[in-house]
Amino acid sequence: MMLERLSPGDADRLALVHARCFRPGWSAQSFRDLLARDTTVALALRDDDRPRELIALILVQVAAEQSEILTLGTLPEARRRGHARALVLASATQAHRMGAREIFLEVAKDNAAASALYRSLGFLPAGERRAYYRDANGRLTDAIILRAPLPLDAFPPESSKA
Ligand SMILES: CC(C)(COP(=O)(O)OP(=O)(O)OC[C@H]1O[C@@H](n2cnc3c(N)ncnc32)[C@H](O)[C@@H]1OP(=O)(O)O)[C@@H](O)C(=O)NCCC(=O)NCCS
Repeated sequence: MMLERLSPGDADRLALVHARCFRPGWSAQSFRDLLARDTTVALALRDDDRPRELIALILVQVAAEQSEILTLGTLPEARRRGHARALVLASATQAHRMGAREIFLEVAKDNAAASALYRSLGFLPAGERRAYYRDANGRLTDAIILRAPLPLDAFPPESSKA
């Protein structure tokens, strides 16, 4: 498995992976715009055997002492192998190096997989946004705001706390 820093030239491939993780996915132009900013940390994982294909991605925006996970996804066939955990840890380390002291994200209230992942990394609820997401069927879902102090690895997973 190889960890790769992404550039605007990767936008088309990112849009393909994103469309397999989210409905609707983001456009290639959205990725191009985000990747053109030097405040965006954009990382992906690729298979050693198929180096042209991305299997997981993360984008983090850094703004002074705060950072935010904008999106995170692993292809369905590559899940539960630690890829998302590795990307959150690597991007949080990078955001910390850029000056961020905390990291936030929004997650749909009914997204059990992502919630379990973030909580295992020490993220805790910091607020709620009502009717924040609209899915492909037009259904609205609340979002939970999660927050963790940086660096992440200074904080043990929830499960290991007394
Ligand atoms: C959420 C998502 C990114 C997780 O990716 P992943 O690469 O499978 O995650 P990991 O293998 O790194 O999982 C790490 C930990 O998260 C938790 N976790 C991940 N998927 C889970 C699931 N389906 N059910 C319960 N816990 C889960 C577990 O604690 C897991 O550790 P374990 O496998 O040792 O038990 C992936 O399911 C995905 O792309 N979903 C669609 C897009 C999405 O919801 N993105 C997040 C938006 S905030």
